[in-house]
Amino acid sequence: MEELYLGIETSCDDTSCAIYSPSRGVVVHRTAAQLDHEKYGGVVPEIASRSHMRTLLPLYETVTGEAGVELPSLAGIGVTNGPGLTGSLLVGLSFAKALAYGSGARLAGIHHIEGHILANALENPLVLPALVLVVSGGHTQLVAMEKIGRYEVIGSTRDDAAGEAFDKIGKLLALPFPGGPSVELAARTGNRASYDFPRALRHSGGYDFSFSGLKTAVRLEVESIPAITPQIVSDVAASAQEAIVEALVDKSFLAVKEMHTRSFYLAGGVAANCRLRELMQERLGSAGIRVSWPRPEYCTDNAAMIACAACHHIRAGRVDGLDLNSFARGNLLSWAA
Ligand code: KG4
Ligand code: ZN
Repeated sequence: MEELYLGIETSCDDTSCAIYSPSRGVVVHRTAAQLDHEKYGGVVPEIASRSHMRTLLPLYETVTGEAGVELPSLAGIGVTNGPGLTGSLLVGLSFAKALAYGSGARLAGIHHIEGHILANALENPLVLPALVLVVSGGHTQLVAMEKIGRYEVIGSTRDDAAGEAFDKIGKLLALPFPGGPSVELAARTGNRASYDFPRALRHSGGYDFSFSGLKTAVRLEVESIPAITPQIVSDVAASAQEAIVEALVDKSFLAVKEMHTRSFYLAGGVAANCRLRELMQERLGSAGIRVSWPRPEYCTDNAAMIACAACHHIRAGRVDGLDLNSFARGNLLSWAA
């Protein structure tokens, strides 16, 4: 019987289910984005939980149906149990526990950030040790990864996450939610040298980031412009995107140099940004560093990465009981010896 893992991800506003095979890779993956948050300009936790409640079972039925998988034949079930929105996490966690209880399948709770990191292992084997830049809506971290299961967070944001900065700048420019992809789209027709926005902590040493000053600088600039034209929106978007991307690339470059790392990965929603990929490849690639990233659908929240992580946990014997709980906040910890 083929070794197949089910992944469930409901940590924020995307409901996702996937089946992963260590020999074939992603067998089936479906993510249902919630559009109900758009009119509020941000994720509304209660709407997110209720939407997961409606969507998860039909999504699970579609995914297992398309994969032709029967529940009792699963090698294991992986579920994101934190960090994230508690109500949202509990929907996925309760669902996964019910499946595990009913079938006897092994269960593994997965840290959302580990999932993002292991999205890089979905299509190609990882080249380790490596440094990983995790850039999502809730996190901006540089993680030293010795092997799967051994992680050290060497730098973090001191305030806003990179994705949060994109989202807030998108909102200031009245672009559609979520801001990240909208800012990237607007920036394509903009001049990134139009505005000189701050790159905080650039010369500070260390690997921490800060993006709240940038957001304020963009707000003050936008407020000082009497009539905002579409070209101004594009120029502000391009200049702000450049400030975020340069800050991320600078610290990543410093870290790979100081830690003598040869392998570098991007992970998380912001890793879908083409300018980030381009500049990272330019700076680190020209220094002989191997730079990689997941394809866009595996950068943003998805259950394929959770199923893949579960495969590694369960194969290593790290299995959770039905008392597994969720956590809203918590650092990525090592679990392997
Ligand atoms: O990893 P993710 O899907 O969810 C979290 O774990 O937070 O990341 C979502 C974040 C959002 O802030 C979104 O605006 C940003 O990733 N994002 C992007 C792009 N696509 C998604 N930011 C910049 N450029 C993009 N193309
Ligand atoms: Zn995420």
